[in-house]
Amino acid sequence: MKKLDQKIAVVTGASRGIGQGIALSLAKEGANLALADISLETLEETKKLIEAEGVKVSTYEIDVNDENKISTTFKKIASDFGTIDIAVNNAGVIGIHKTVEMTAADWDKIQSVNARGVFLCAKAELEVMLPQKSGTIINVASIAGKKGMKLLAAYCASKFAVVGFTNALALEVADTGITVNALCPGIVGTGMWRGDDGLAKAYANDGESEDASWERQQKTLLPQGVAQTPEDMGNLAVFFATSPHVTGQAISVDGGFGM
Ligand SMILES: NC(=O)c1ccc[n+]([C@@H]2O[C@H](COP(=O)([O-])OP(=O)(O)OC[C@H]3O[C@@H](n4cnc5c(N)ncnc54)[C@H](O)[C@@H]3O)[C@@H](O)[C@H]2O)c1
Repeated sequence: MKKLDQKIAVVTGASRGIGQGIALSLAKEGANLALADISLETLEETKKLIEAEGVKVSTYEIDVNDENKISTTFKKIASDFGTIDIAVNNAGVIGIHKTVEMTAADWDKIQSVNARGVFLCAKAELEVMLPQKSGTIINVASIAGKKGMKLLAAYCASKFAVVGFTNALALEVADTGITVNALCPGIVGTGMWRGDDGLAKAYANDGESEDASWERQQKTLLPQGVAQTPEDMGNLAVFFATSPHVTGQAISVDGGFGM
């Protein structure tokens, strides 16, 4: 018997990176998975990985900015699988800007995916979870939801919002059987750090390569000296999903970054 046998989990932003790692960890513990992302094609790789674990898996196209689509998609997931037990609101974007150069549109884009998107998904999840009086909501925030980081004012604001929202919502539903927690990654080598427009490049010194910058960031920002992995995030998601009396927490998996 696995820890999450027969449970139904939804993960947004499940195509790659942290979302893929969390989906895989939940599947390894026996959960059936509804994978959601901005396009269906990008979910194929994660779908294959999950299928190999022998659990049920379906894919759904959602833009976490689209209020109507979110509501109908979560209803469809609940109808396809019978319910939703675990919901991981992971979809997010980064935006790297000096504040003096940032436009209102830059700011709005980051808030709308990272903060408004988490709110809209949680609302749709509650519509399923409140009547059944059970469920686990996991909002993926960041260490940037607890401390400032250079060139990330809008991103930090969005992730502080996720932590505050998580705390308030956990209180609001504390007596309903639903838990709400935030998972705060530190540094993971996904597109957000290693992509063409990623942080390793943005934080590079003059003449420093992206690879060298990435190595340096890990050594200088992290007391443990090494980046975390999507699997690390999956482990915490499994912990939240199996801990009915842990709620309203924002737990970091950050190699000591926040100390
Ligand atoms: N990588 C890190 O070091 C790090 C650190 C702290 C927090 N995080 C957070 O972890 C989460 C996952 O990030 P990641 O590093 O895996 O990044 P990533 O860019 O590899 O993955 C993000 C996923 O979200 C999806 N997505 C983006 N906008 C969407 C939208 N509007 N609707 C639906 N899906 C959308 C993308 O298609 C992608 O699959 C994000 O919330 C991010 O802010 C990442």
